[in-house]
Amino acid sequence: MNKYLVVGGAGYIGGVCVEKMIDQGDDVVILDNLKTGHKENVHPKAAFYQGDKGDAALLDKIFSEHKIDTVLDFAGLIQVGESVKEPSKYFQNNLGQGLDLLDGMMKNNVKKIIFSSTAAVFGNPKVAPINEEAKKDPINPYGESKYFFERVIKRYSEAYGLKYTVFRYFNACGATEQSREQHAQESHLIPLIFQAAKGERPNIALFGTDYDTPDGTCIRDYVHVSDLVDAHLLAIKKMESSPANEYNLGNGSGYSVKEVISAVEKISGKTVPVVMAERRAGDPARLIASSEKAKTELGWEPKYPEIEQIIESAWNAELNPPSEK
Ligand SMILES: NC(=O)c1ccc[n+]([C@@H]2O[C@H](COP(=O)([O-])OP(=O)(O)OC[C@H]3O[C@@H](n4cnc5c(N)ncnc54)[C@H](O)[C@@H]3O)[C@@H](O)[C@H]2O)c1
Repeated sequence: MNKYLVVGGAGYIGGVCVEKMIDQGDDVVILDNLKTGHKENVHPKAAFYQGDKGDAALLDKIFSEHKIDTVLDFAGLIQVGESVKEPSKYFQNNLGQGLDLLDGMMKNNVKKIIFSSTAAVFGNPKVAPINEEAKKDPINPYGESKYFFERVIKRYSEAYGLKYTVFRYFNACGATEQSREQHAQESHLIPLIFQAAKGERPNIALFGTDYDTPDGTCIRDYVHVSDLVDAHLLAIKKMESSPANEYNLGNGSGYSVKEVISAVEKISGKTVPVVMAERRAGDPARLIASSEKAKTELGWEPKYPEIEQIIESAWNAELNPPSEK
């Protein structure tokens, strides 16, 4: 049986990955510093190490205690706004500690990694849908930290024989039986709309209602977390025969901010108060992924492509949090 190290496995997407791997019978080790993750997300059947992915001694310990086949690196700081104010924190964590992780892997002869990158590497792309060849031109330190690390991975692959898969997620959302989106500093649209629906925040702001889209609000690509994780499971198999892989992951069909709000109102039966606000700098009208490459090469097909399915799973988890079941 193969053993996997899931770095960031106490977080949202990493937590779903651990859940699915254990459900299919894999052996899983988690490394997480719990800075934005949650102790209750740590799967009881996984071995758990609390610490930084930049801790060389801890990596040596983990790799000596477990024969790891592949590392899945979900560990990152993810707040775009914070990254603009505190770039050092983002480059240190996402890039610097990423390098330490790779060096720990090379030293211990662990030669396969799956890395969580982001649509933010594309910045404000001129094309829609966005495929893997689109120009990478990140416009904030978060996107840059991810893009620089993608480049590092490629160089390690060329020089040291590292096999890799880079996934660029668009907007991860939805929940599973055991995991839901729960960021302490929430910046993602669906959880923010839920807070407004539940009266935990006064309203939700529509940042720009005059975009060149059918209802004037920005269109984004929402992909269910369970579908995202399925792509990782397929990639593990693919890396046996293909050493260097990169894929954009989204539904390919975007939804506007107003459409997402309407879907939340429909599913929750609650009214979401909205206010109009100015456009935010650097918000493109449309960000939609082309995931044709993942479909063709990995045989990946999203099982929850409809926004109502995504919201329903997230709303059910909101009403009945997995940790309280
Ligand atoms: N959520 C999204 O919509 C989205 C979109 C694009 C890309 N991503 C990427 O996916 C990954 C997972 O995102 P998420 O939403 O699950 O975030 P999350 O904050 O829920 O999970 C990240 C986890 O990594 C841990 N972590 C962070 N830095 C660490 C370090 N240096 N050492 C050890 N542990 C560390 C945190 O404690 C947390 O448990 C991130 O790398 C993010 O950039 C997420």
